[in-house]
Amino acid sequence: MRKAEHDGLQMTPQEMRQLASRVTEILIERNGDLDSSNAWDGEFREVLEEQFWGPPPEGERPAEEVLEQVVRDVLPNAARLDHPRFFGFIPSSPTWPGILADYLAAGFNINSCTWLVSSGTSQLELTVVDWMRDWIGFSESAGGLLTSGGSAASVEALVTAREAAGHPERPTVYMSDQSHSALKRAAFIAGVHRDHIRIVSSDDNFRINLAELTEQVRDDRAKGLHPLAVCANAGSASTGSIDRLDTLSSFCASEGIWLHVDAAYGGFALVTSEGKEHLAGIENADSVGMDAHKWFFQPYEVGALIVKNAKQLESAFAIGHDVLQDTVWGSNHPNFADRGLQLSRAARALKIWMSVQTFGMAKFRAAVQNGLDLARRAGEYVDSNPVLEMVTPVSLGIVCFRIKPEGSTYDEATLEDVNRKVLARVFWDELAFFSSTSLKGVFSLRFCIINHTTTWEGVHRTLDRVVEFGKEALNEL
Ligand SMILES: Cc1ncc(COP(=O)(O)O)c(C=O)c1O
Repeated sequence: MRKAEHDGLQMTPQEMRQLASRVTEILIERNGDLDSSNAWDGEFREVLEEQFWGPPPEGERPAEEVLEQVVRDVLPNAARLDHPRFFGFIPSSPTWPGILADYLAAGFNINSCTWLVSSGTSQLELTVVDWMRDWIGFSESAGGLLTSGGSAASVEALVTAREAAGHPERPTVYMSDQSHSALKRAAFIAGVHRDHIRIVSSDDNFRINLAELTEQVRDDRAKGLHPLAVCANAGSASTGSIDRLDTLSSFCASEGIWLHVDAAYGGFALVTSEGKEHLAGIENADSVGMDAHKWFFQPYEVGALIVKNAKQLESAFAIGHDVLQDTVWGSNHPNFADRGLQLSRAARALKIWMSVQTFGMAKFRAAVQNGLDLARRAGEYVDSNPVLEMVTPVSLGIVCFRIKPEGSTYDEATLEDVNRKVLARVFWDELAFFSSTSLKGVFSLRFCIINHTTTWEGVHRTLDRVVEFGKEALNEL
């Protein structure tokens, strides 16, 4: 074993260069070889624990050895969310400049908390947030911040709503049965009693049922509760459904209720003209959450919260502290720590800014459009295949379908069994990875196609495999 030349916690330039070059080589090899690797790998805890449980070592080890161990035994035990045939949950596929931006930000040790501490990345955050404001269609009085993701954006949105309403007693929050669990958690973190989180049913297109919402709000007011916010979906995680944003915003405005739009996964469709049409009305919301680590090709973690009236964000979160008194630079120099729940903050804007500067919006737009187009083609494949049935219409990159031969009379339990078998076969077959959902009690296979490296050939091959396994499962009945 080679003896390290470094002293204390530092490394020599030669050691640093060697280690960084090795990391770069490993990543280039891994990323270049994704198509021929599995879309998923994982290991049981008993195996991993045997390798990794124990106290921290007192002495040192060669850095290369530590690196090789991690690359061999830790990192591969993961879903390859950026694999071109990973269609499960909400995938992500970061660009190389975005990845390097995170490395740079760590290397420069940036803390994007205040203008004084990092004016450079604070300016980039202003710029990137302003792009998003513009894509949403908010006026210039809107503003926001980058967050760790959709969950944090939801918490910050509901806290802002609560403060804007004067922190009322007994608040209620409304969302549909299609809303993400992150929204429910956000509501109770924001101080809404669990019993006062109203889950409104969704219609046949998985959009919030407006008549039921109206009635629930009326009942709650009659009981002396305070309707605080409606959380709308602009790309629900299960089906990609989009609530009627126009009608909801008029309703919320007339009732004095905050409208938060959860566009965590669907929001970046706004950069395409097709997506803009789908999300029409989003510009009338009070706040919008959207995740760049989903459909804007960035490494984890980066989401955003954009609030129609940026001042409300600072009114909710800014708290002076003596030890930070020197960080007040003056008007027009925001401290992003005053807009959300974190003081120390990663320089998340850097990756968005660098990757967009490198490739340009035309390529980003085309990459988002690729997801919309492939999902539509997958839907056409399903529609024209006699063994498959669409469960919901394709929406924003999501295709929900199942094995159900045309004209068949299998009961729901049998169909669920067949589809579960197909999902398990695909899983062990390792060509691709996708997941399932439950739609008003119907077990549905589900593709989310938003990776910029995914091709029609990859989607087609996976669907062919689903049909093959489906036929086999049906024959076994
Ligand atoms: C629609 C929607 N909202 C919220 C979230 C939560 O976002 P995050 O995982 O970034 O916290 C997700 C995550 O997939 C989502 O799809």
